Amino acid sequence: MSVRRLAQTQPPSFAFTAETLETAKWWMSKYPPHRKASAVIPILWLIQKQEGWVSEPAIRTVATMLEMPVIRVLEVATFYTMFHLQPVGKHHLQVCGTTPCMLRGAEDLKAVCKKRIGEKFDVTADGLFSWEEVECLGACVNAPVVAIHDYYHEDLDVGALERTIDALASGQHVRPGSAIGRQTSAPEGEAKTLTDPTLYDGTLAQPIKLPNLPEPAAS
Ligand code: FES
Repeated sequence: MSVRRLAQTQPPSFAFTAETLETAKWWMSKYPPHRKASAVIPILWLIQKQEGWVSEPAIRTVATMLEMPVIRVLEVATFYTMFHLQPVGKHHLQVCGTTPCMLRGAEDLKAVCKKRIGEKFDVTADGLFSWEEVECLGACVNAPVVAIHDYYHEDLDVGALERTIDALASGQHVRPGSAIGRQTSAPEGEAKTLTDPTLYDGTLAQPIKLPNLPEPAAS
């Protein structure tokens, strides 16, 4: 588990935009009043969408809003690496460094980030990029994985990550998912199971009559 601390430099205050506040209230309305703390993760996420990161004043604001001790909100914000605790670049790369990704080339990806962006959490002079190493992103079968914005970029190698950074730098859309065209989490190369085409052509989906169903009522 990486050590995650709040940024040393904090803004004096935090304020919701009207739009973010409206969405936050929608999340709160999903839960009974005495369970409003259940909205803590989506509201922190909304704040990050608004500000780019989660500041200490924002954490206090959420604690007040959800009637939670500040330490409880702090625990959530510092536990999940999805929350940025300091300002990051417009494109923040989260490189998984846990064992399956490490065995599949994460060290090389970290070297690319160092070369192209700088040290962890450095923000490039143009404000476009920053990166950090995170623990398992839960997509190990498609390792190595880098999360950018809300999406995973999987099966990466040095060339694929360099191309992704180039595309982002020039303002292009980058397609998330497998860099080697793997279908979801199928084995590399091609599917090894469930390959019978009759599984998918509808021939097996014939209606069946269950023996214990009542006869249809006479009309
Ligand atoms: S180890 Fe990288 S996604 Fe699980």
